[in-house]
Amino acid sequence: MKRLHGKSALITGSARGIGRAFAEAYVREGARVAIADINVTRARETASEIGPSAYAVEMDVTQQGSIDAAIASVVAEAGGLDILVNNAALFDLAPIVEITRESYDRLFAINVSGTLFTMQAAARQMIAQGRGGKIINMASQAGRRGEALVAVYCATKAAVISLTQSAGLNLIKHRINVNAIAPGVVDGEHWDGVDALFAKYENRPRGEKKRLAGAEVPYGRMGTAEDLTGMAIFLASAESDYVVSQTYNVDGGNWMS
Ligand SMILES: NC(=O)c1ccc[n+]([C@@H]2O[C@H](COP(=O)([O-])OP(=O)(O)OC[C@H]3O[C@@H](n4cnc5c(N)ncnc54)[C@H](O)[C@@H]3O)[C@@H](O)[C@H]2O)c1
Repeated sequence: MKRLHGKSALITGSARGIGRAFAEAYVREGARVAIADINVTRARETASEIGPSAYAVEMDVTQQGSIDAAIASVVAEAGGLDILVNNAALFDLAPIVEITRESYDRLFAINVSGTLFTMQAAARQMIAQGRGGKIINMASQAGRRGEALVAVYCATKAAVISLTQSAGLNLIKHRINVNAIAPGVVDGEHWDGVDALFAKYENRPRGEKKRLAGAEVPYGRMGTAEDLTGMAIFLASAESDYVVSQTYNVDGGNWMS
């Protein structure tokens, strides 16, 4: 039996990277999945590559109207919403003395406000349906401790861990489970951008930070998006019904908590 048979899922930021891998995994487990992304062209390509159980939804998690419209289109398309993955996020880095308000506002708008208000809209829909639900927020090892050049992103991910705890406690009476995944370093287009920023601020050749980050993982390499799908399926399935407000590290052993 497929573990997500007949379920309706919405994954923000799933046109590429980890969200896309989750969408593929959820479809394999029997769900219909909304590929919700600000990059709607890429979301359409991704949905058509995944197949008929995936469909694209244009969504900017920083805009309340866009959040509400995305939830409404999932309800219209799939008859309801059972699973939300708050995956969309932005990364930036700078030394403390160079952080700009623009970068701070943008990262908090996507990573924190986007997560909270998408979670809120999904929870309202799930409560109205009366059949519970699953909400999975993407945190990070960056939310577990600070990093010299990554203050703002680390703070956004610490906020995601905290929001997961509070929302989980508040929503479990509706049988809505809220939990989070904290990846370590996951290879892909996102980390290509991270590597370029470290190259600039640490004066390194391109590719070196990525190589070092992978070598430091106790498992012996960077993660792949597929390394995370087992946890993403578990947290979306009935097997996790008694799991409330937790953040799971899936990081090859980088962090223990
Ligand atoms: N890659 C890693 O090493 C890593 C490590 C820890 C945590 N994470 C977290 O995992 C999640 C996915 O990471 P990824 O590596 O796949 O990232 P990614 O940058 O490859 O993908 C992010 C997606 O979000 C979309 N997006 C950006 N702004 C948006 C907005 N306002 N509204 C809707 N969509 C928007 C982008 O278009 C993109 O498709 C993020 O929350 C990230 O912080 C990633």
